[in-house]
Amino acid sequence: MLDKQQVRTQQSDEYIIAVGEDPSSEIQKVVAVYPGPKAFFFVDSNVMKLQAKLVDQITALYEEPLVYKVPAGEASKSVEQWSEMVSFCLSHHPHRNVPVFAIGGGVTGDLAGFVASTVLRGLPLIHIPTTLLAIVDSSIGGKTGINHEAGKNLVGSFYQPKAVIAPLKALQTLSDQEFICGFGEILKYGAIADPDILTILSTKDLSELRENVSLLGSIVQRSIKVKTDVVIRDTQESNLRMILNYGHTFAHAIEKQMGYGKISHGQAVYIGMIAAGILSKELGATIKEELIEQHFGSMMISDIEIDITPDQLLNAMQSDKKRSSTGLRFVVLKQYGRPYVEQIDDTALIEQVWSSTLTRIEELKMQPV
Ligand SMILES: NC(=O)c1ccc[n+]([C@@H]2O[C@H](COP(=O)([O-])OP(=O)(O)OC[C@H]3O[C@@H](n4cnc5c(N)ncnc54)[C@H](O)[C@@H]3O)[C@@H](O)[C@H]2O)c1
Repeated sequence: MLDKQQVRTQQSDEYIIAVGEDPSSEIQKVVAVYPGPKAFFFVDSNVMKLQAKLVDQITALYEEPLVYKVPAGEASKSVEQWSEMVSFCLSHHPHRNVPVFAIGGGVTGDLAGFVASTVLRGLPLIHIPTTLLAIVDSSIGGKTGINHEAGKNLVGSFYQPKAVIAPLKALQTLSDQEFICGFGEILKYGAIADPDILTILSTKDLSELRENVSLLGSIVQRSIKVKTDVVIRDTQESNLRMILNYGHTFAHAIEKQMGYGKISHGQAVYIGMIAAGILSKELGATIKEELIEQHFGSMMISDIEIDITPDQLLNAMQSDKKRSSTGLRFVVLKQYGRPYVEQIDDTALIEQVWSSTLTRIEELKMQPV
């Protein structure tokens, strides 16, 4: 099984996103375009160990593979790590056509993507995403970057890859927790644009999704289609791309209040979508909450303890708001597949939404997984 989508953004030539259990034929096509002999490979340290065969297969396609192991974890998205990787590249005296392969999750993709976009003002970038989140989200859309002490992802660039090639077989070594994390974004794509994703997922459990590669492949394809459709129309995040933030205004508040690392981004997005669904209903939407919440839902949040008040969460949102010129803006739904953006000045309403969300989460946690 190999599915391909062609993408052309306002910022790039056409490039391919290929998803398959073993898409090595697509990788070989990239090698034919960028034949080397040199190529840079930035590989997540866990992937280097757990997916050694895959990494060897890819690096062996070049006569002079220049392999750099990226320490796993968000802390690697730092100025220091970026600088070290730039020095690694420059020490090998590359010319502008030496490709950069980013093999790993969103951390490696964002970081190596930023390295690729800055060395010699741009080396060809090829994403080989190995987490579900990276496959359906971070490798698509051309956002690269690192964190700064002033905040997450505050330094970076819009830089489109030359290809995204996702080997689904790499997901076999992903922990359940990391695997589930990707479903926060997948459910989001269902909510904002492709409600069939929600219907399909509402009858599947984790083991089925992990074992049935063609089922997973088709859900992944649908998700990628949603993201690419949006990104093609709004590459630089001026307007439409905002809908990809469905649930995220709430998610950022809960991540910030709980402390990064206490809750995964996927879990935070999932909770954010419950809140955004409640807010949408307050504003008159007709949506079936259970499509997002049930079944898959309790699996997403069974292990988290939230010891925060609605008031604290509202404050976290308001302190974030100070950084933007607009008020509190939310992506909400008229119904599944019909998102819009609404500014809400009634803070009591948001506090009430948080209160209902926290209650709902406790109820969901009681349901059997
Ligand atoms: N650029 C974008 O548009 C965008 C969008 C969403 C998220 N992001 C960024 O993505 C990052 C999160 O991405 P992530 O969730 O992939 O995290 P990650 O890259 O940290 O990967 C999660 C964990 O899985 C491990 N791993 C990766 N592939 C594996 C495999 N095949 N088998 C076993 N373990 C494996 C990693 O070592 C890591 O421990 C964040 O930094 C976030 O800011 C970027």
